[in-house]
Amino acid sequence: MQNQIFIKKKIDKFKKKNIFLPGDKSLSIRFVLFSSLAIGKSSASNLLMSDDVINTIECIKNLGIKVKQKKNKITIYGNGLFGFDYKRMTLNAGNSGTCARLILASIVDTKKPIRIVGDKSLSKRDMNRIIKPLEKFGAKFKKNNGKLPITVINGDNLKSIRYFEKLGSAQCKSAVMITALKSKGKTKLKCAPSRNHTELFFKHVLKLPIKKYKKNNLDIIEIDGLKNFKSFNYNIPSDISSAAFIIVLTLLSNNSEVKLRNINTNPTRTGIIKILNKMGAKIKLINNKIYKGEKISDIIVKSNRNLRAIDLNPIHNSSAIDEFLLIFLVAAVSKGISNFKKLTELNKKESKRLDLGIEILKKIGVKVKKTKNDGLKIWGNPKLEINKKVTMKNYLKDHRIFMVSVIAALTLGGNWNIHDPDSISTSFPNFLKIIKNLGAKIN
Ligand code: S3P
Repeated sequence: MQNQIFIKKKIDKFKKKNIFLPGDKSLSIRFVLFSSLAIGKSSASNLLMSDDVINTIECIKNLGIKVKQKKNKITIYGNGLFGFDYKRMTLNAGNSGTCARLILASIVDTKKPIRIVGDKSLSKRDMNRIIKPLEKFGAKFKKNNGKLPITVINGDNLKSIRYFEKLGSAQCKSAVMITALKSKGKTKLKCAPSRNHTELFFKHVLKLPIKKYKKNNLDIIEIDGLKNFKSFNYNIPSDISSAAFIIVLTLLSNNSEVKLRNINTNPTRTGIIKILNKMGAKIKLINNKIYKGEKISDIIVKSNRNLRAIDLNPIHNSSAIDEFLLIFLVAAVSKGISNFKKLTELNKKESKRLDLGIEILKKIGVKVKKTKNDGLKIWGNPKLEINKKVTMKNYLKDHRIFMVSVIAALTLGGNWNIHDPDSISTSFPNFLKIIKNLGAKIN
């Protein structure tokens, strides 16, 4: 693929009854890891075949796990909770924070040093957030100041802990939960709310005796260690975080309508829909069902530029954490001043998405102001049109910055040159193909 694309024309009206999107990234990575720790043969359909998931598969293969794969169907032969074949080696998590943090926890009981590395973007991200709790269990690391490469040295005799996860990070929560499984005794976790796929997986798929309840708006999770679990099958629903790009494209286009099929609409992930509907969008979830604890729906979206600004309560931040660039774009064309607070975690992603989001909004002529404690104000303009040349480059190959730029180009106009299209292989490899099918002209 060329390393840049050009968009010079807005997308024309489109209508599409059934759009099928790739599998959910969080669930695909969890399927790969948990099946590798199960006893026996597990299979999944609609696995997301993106770089983040492929890197996770490569990691478990290096740990001695047999994997058979045909397109997006996969079979993994797990050897149980302590069944990895540990030897001195390096595992590569590529661009994926979820892979790095969950794999690190999965090998925490190694007897041989195993080094975990990542790409340039991942090597800038903080790993102390998982090293600290994992050390409490008794694990030993070569820490490199909390940045990859990190070496897991030894995890003999791990003992259960009590831990308060304050960041609202599902990756941290999951790393602690996996380590709890490998430790003796009952681990008790108190956490700021975040996506709950790992809890649902433990309870409904792995059938582990996990307890979860709420106390003072925090989640309390209790897990008993040293419990093996059996293999399982999983049909992975499609990813709301990929759907979000098509939702905003449709919303901000003229007279268009789509139905997105079989999307994971777990309420800890659907902040984008709640927020857009509060802004006036009227997005509908239909054919709702529950599958292995996860909510699944079809989503219907129609164009609607009659949108109003939002003053967002930060309790919604975590359920929309990967979608804020799109939310900023919608705020930029909504009537009034939008206000966001406590977006610190947004700067901890594949790139500093809060700071870069502000830079990009300014570049396309939107009035914005960073406020205290990583807040942001956006002055919306329903008539916003771009009539100039916009070049998007040097954004650390962040897949979501690339995709939001494409949506902005197709809905706001202008003459766009957007670099790093190959970044979409991280999470949504057929993104460009799908929007070209809707009629987008992209060179
Ligand atoms: C993920 C959790 C989120 C999210 C990431 C995937 C997961 O990060 O940004 O894309 O699969 O657990 P944190 O919850 O750790 O902030």
